[in-house]
Amino acid sequence: MFRGLCCLLLLAHPASSLDATARWCGWSSAAPRTTPLVAHANRFEICQGKYCSKKGAKRTLALFEELGEQLGEEVIIEKADMSHTEHGCFDECTMGPNVRIDGDGPQTDGGRIINGVRGAAAVAELLGVEPPPESA
Ligand code: FES
Repeated sequence: MFRGLCCLLLLAHPASSLDATARWCGWSSAAPRTTPLVAHANRFEICQGKYCSKKGAKRTLALFEELGEQLGEEVIIEKADMSHTEHGCFDECTMGPNVRIDGDGPQTDGGRIINGVRGAAAVAELLGVEPPPESA
């Protein structure tokens, strides 16, 4: 029941944080999952703005690049370029590090922002790959 409600919340608020929603409904990230939270994403853009950087976005980008190697050419992983916007970022700075999934690339709007993406387990989950043994 609650999981269904969480899915409805995510659909109603696509820019909301998956982690926050998962915590709210008690869907623990420690629980075994057979499918990634975000399936079939092809593009990951990691904000490297000032605030996201203070919250660890450089490490998040490095983890995406490292773990994304498992997927080869299937996915695009890049620094977000939101220089066309007023703040030059996704403007969700307090919730960083922020990652846009399936956007259209540099200087475009759209896609879905995932907040607070930190650590190898979180990155592996978004990519749909196995986390490194030390983070599992
Ligand atoms: S600095 Fe990353 S969203 Fe603003």
